[in-house]
Amino acid sequence: MPYSVFVTRHLTQEAEEKLDGFCQAEYWPEDTPPSYDVLLEKTPTVDGLVCLLTDRIDENLINQAKNLKVISQVAVGVDNIDLEAAAQAGIPVGHTPDLLTDATADLAIALIMAAARRLSEAITYTAEGRWKTWELTTLLGADVHGATLGILGMGRIGQAVAQRGLGFNMDIMYYNRSRVPEAETELGAEYVTLTELLQQADIVSLHVPLNDATRGMIGRDELALMKPNAILVNTARGEVVDTEALVNALNSGQIGYAALDVTDPEPLPPDHELYQLPNAIITPHIGSATRTARNNISLLAVENLIAGLEGRPLPAAAVQPDQDNHD
Ligand code: NAP
Ligand code: GLV
Repeated sequence: MPYSVFVTRHLTQEAEEKLDGFCQAEYWPEDTPPSYDVLLEKTPTVDGLVCLLTDRIDENLINQAKNLKVISQVAVGVDNIDLEAAAQAGIPVGHTPDLLTDATADLAIALIMAAARRLSEAITYTAEGRWKTWELTTLLGADVHGATLGILGMGRIGQAVAQRGLGFNMDIMYYNRSRVPEAETELGAEYVTLTELLQQADIVSLHVPLNDATRGMIGRDELALMKPNAILVNTARGEVVDTEALVNALNSGQIGYAALDVTDPEPLPPDHELYQLPNAIITPHIGSATRTARNNISLLAVENLIAGLEGRPLPAAAVQPDQDNHD
């Protein structure tokens, strides 16, 4: 087979069969990511790289990979890849938008429900044998129906969450760096400033990509604007939120609850203070973790890879040299 490819983790069986039918693929066999040194050793020897969001693909690595024809990420977010360096080197970068939008939006709603109705505490309560009778004022939470939902980043996933919010009769407001007319006409979402969103929303759900402008976007000052009972949901990237400021805001009751699928650092060390807080829940970055979504994004990553190896435009490109670059 003419092409050699390094894959930084096992893919789904269907995706591996498709890849193996096309090229000579080496799969990193472990459950944890290859170290940067392993990436440095492998990448210059191959024609194609299939990577995950846990792999640091930086300028140094890209510049050493003289044979590399394509980088194919199995995720929509590509903040772990130096896109500018890839574009400079003429290497297309694939990613996997759309196919995980609904799964991730579903999880955001699950986190909203879990936070508002204190599901984690309620499950622990019954499991610990503390459920003695029906109690009028125990484990009281917040109404989800009719709440004001603030979407920060009204792209694919933000819109899918807003659409689900309509089913709960929520009022939708959003902030995005550019206005999104279809969200206003089709979802009735109101465009507001970031300050207004933080001040008025009962639930703030984050859906921006991680970039220089969004890193630390929710810090001490922003948390201070939020309502005392507000719920912060992060299914975007951990670094969008200042973790220390969040811990302080949760501890002091400045905000009501945080439900996080992504954290900074990631993974969060087992002894991290966030795990001790009664008003925080954390899931291990499982936004797209349905069988269907993960298989579909694995297959798309393989399609992107094959297109790149054959010198065709990628079906879903974050960088396509000679064409428009995506964020
Ligand atoms: P998307 O369609 O590109 O949406 C991102 C939105 O954020 C766009 O509307 C963009 O606005 C806006 N935005 C970018 N920078 C901004 C800024 N500085 N201020 C305000 N708005 C800004 O992406 P998506 O498919 O919805 O995915 C969003 C992110 O979710 C991904 O990048 C990834 O990090 C995360 N994600 C997480 C999981 C998980 O497992 N938890 C799964 C999938 C995705 P413009 O229209 O102006 O570009
Ligand atoms: C997951 O976090 C993704 O970006 O696809």
